[in-house]
Amino acid sequence: MTDLERITELRNELHRHNYNYYVKHNPEISDFEFDKLLKELQDLEQKHPEYFDPTSPTQRVGSDLDSGFVQEKHEYPMLSLANSYSLEDLQEFDSRVRKLVGTRDFCYTCELKYDGVAISLQYKDGKLTRALTRGDGIQGDNITNNAKTIGTVPLQLHGNYPKELEIRGEIVMPRKGFDAFNQERIEQGDQPFANPRNAAAGSLKLQSSKEVARRPLQANMYYIPSETPSDSHYENLAIARSWGFNIPDLSEQCKTIDDVYAYIKKWDTKRKELPFDTDGIVIKVDSISLQQELGMTAKTPRWAIAFKFKAERARTKLLSIDFQVGRQGTITPVANLEPVHLAGTIIKRASLYNADQMKELDIRINDYVYIEKGGEIIPKVVEIDVDARTADSKPFAFITHCPECGAELVRMEDEANYYCPNSKNCPPQIKGKIEHFVTRKAMDIALAGATIDQLYKAGLVKTSADLYTLTYNDVVTLDRFAEKSAKNLIDSIQASKSVPFARVLYAIGIRHIGETSAKTLAKKYKSLDAIQNATLEELQSTEDVGEIIAASIKNYFADPDNIQFIEKLKANGIQFEETGSTQAISNVLEGKTIVISGTFEKHSRDEMKELIEAYGGKNVSGVSKSTTYLLAGDGIGPSKLEKAQSFGVSIIDEETFYQMIGLGDSSADIQKTPTKQDDQQNNANQQLSLF
Ligand code: IVH
Repeated sequence: MTDLERITELRNELHRHNYNYYVKHNPEISDFEFDKLLKELQDLEQKHPEYFDPTSPTQRVGSDLDSGFVQEKHEYPMLSLANSYSLEDLQEFDSRVRKLVGTRDFCYTCELKYDGVAISLQYKDGKLTRALTRGDGIQGDNITNNAKTIGTVPLQLHGNYPKELEIRGEIVMPRKGFDAFNQERIEQGDQPFANPRNAAAGSLKLQSSKEVARRPLQANMYYIPSETPSDSHYENLAIARSWGFNIPDLSEQCKTIDDVYAYIKKWDTKRKELPFDTDGIVIKVDSISLQQELGMTAKTPRWAIAFKFKAERARTKLLSIDFQVGRQGTITPVANLEPVHLAGTIIKRASLYNADQMKELDIRINDYVYIEKGGEIIPKVVEIDVDARTADSKPFAFITHCPECGAELVRMEDEANYYCPNSKNCPPQIKGKIEHFVTRKAMDIALAGATIDQLYKAGLVKTSADLYTLTYNDVVTLDRFAEKSAKNLIDSIQASKSVPFARVLYAIGIRHIGETSAKTLAKKYKSLDAIQNATLEELQSTEDVGEIIAASIKNYFADPDNIQFIEKLKANGIQFEETGSTQAISNVLEGKTIVISGTFEKHSRDEMKELIEAYGGKNVSGVSKSTTYLLAGDGIGPSKLEKAQSFGVSIIDEETFYQMIGLGDSSADIQKTPTKQDDQQNNANQQLSLF
């Protein structure tokens, strides 16, 4: 047997095992045997890069191809669904449908509404060719490499599949996998995701498909916009199941809206037994030809409607109210509750948002309250059972002084929150600022919250700048520290001195400056001095910087304590200027736009990007007419190569690139920038310290 024959045989066999495992949940071989076959295929593919196939089962494990996402147009627009919440809403929908259908016989298909992220998969000759996110419905992000790592996304279809197919569905993270994954994040000091939907959305947009492959994602398919084998949607999905798609077998055909309602009632409770989250039911006119007759409005089809389940609620007693102080001094009221079960967890605390909300609710101690778990990790108090209130209950007065330091609270005009203005002496604000300073996206210093507490209590650290004057001897004498851990901490602090300016700007904690605005400001102004010297108008006209951020920057520099803090950081060698690798070394690549794809021998992709910029070129993500070079690494995708060829773009290899910039046959010495995953996070997570 030739290597090519064996490669083909292994690919077919592994596709079948994937299908048995992920879709039928009925594996024929053990994981060990599977891995052995996979390894054999990987070795053969490595030996023969000319037989590269993007749909090979080896691609499941994720490669680092094509990180930046390219926006592409959907073949069929990706619509959303109109919502309904009551039997009356459904009856209205039904009468609109019946008006057009008249006396013709028809039925609805009811399915579950999976709570995840929409995806559209394209297949040509049974092979997965493209996966797009919804985007704006007209254009989506090409996330093919990420989608390929999801076990339930077939790379190769089975049976009698159509030559061209587009199929849509939802990428979900089943609850069990979500819990384990979140636990792992907490243990590693990362922020957990608020819910499985956010986790699925964040995962699909990761830049490294290797990392996506580690996430427990699942694809549940529900709609075929391209040509279908049958006129019945229900049957089409059954047929698509035989091609290898994961389509939960839970839908039902219903003749009347009463039957539809019975299905809704059944699943309103039964859905809790499902391994993944659902947020409603989708009701679809079953006949494809009737669907076409009914057509669509600008955004939603007239032949389908979603019925949204009401969020689960629980009733319990409010025992007391705590006030927490954030790093910027924001006061957050938190309800302490009599423990109660809600959506699978026991709830003891709930958010009360701010003074206005509390006033509106007229919440009082000992009230019976209703709590709901919305999309956020923290449940919220949504209603008071006023009838259950006792005669002696008194309105609750919001605090006037900081519960931590006693300072009188202030409230900014147009803002819903109260603040403690005593930022220099209020312990949770001081510690909160240091906690922010050391996070991964800021200075990336390995310092746990408990250690910050210790250092603060020992009087060793009062601001983040004091970290840089800590000595090994200071640390080693602290509780729970040994020689090695003390050395590690000092090393980690020293290493943070090379963190680039944009991250330093984010780390110092100017109110309202997030990661994105910090990056934009760093790029435009190049130094903290330039930002400090910019006028309010100049700052406001910067992209991602509005009036609020501009005013906050001005406020920050008006405070002499902040100036002193910056001076201390500067004196300790922290980067307050854009330096190093992104600064131009030469301009040999000036005017050249370069796309990089694949992996390289001497440098990571990020380093390659830095080299391009350092030599005056511009790195772009997608090949177009105006691209000068496609810098091709190992395992480059065929679509990029084809595109480059069709536009007449020169394709160069790694060594040619080094020759161009005068580094031929040597390893360019550039500063290595750590590449970390930027998971998409929900703001609610920032409040997690509450619980
Ligand atoms: S059908 C043109 N079926 O819900 C019809 N959508 O709120 C397209 N969704 O955009 C949608 N489960 O992302 C359909 N069984 C299901 C669904 C479903 C979840 C999502 C989908 C859609 C959104 C609308």
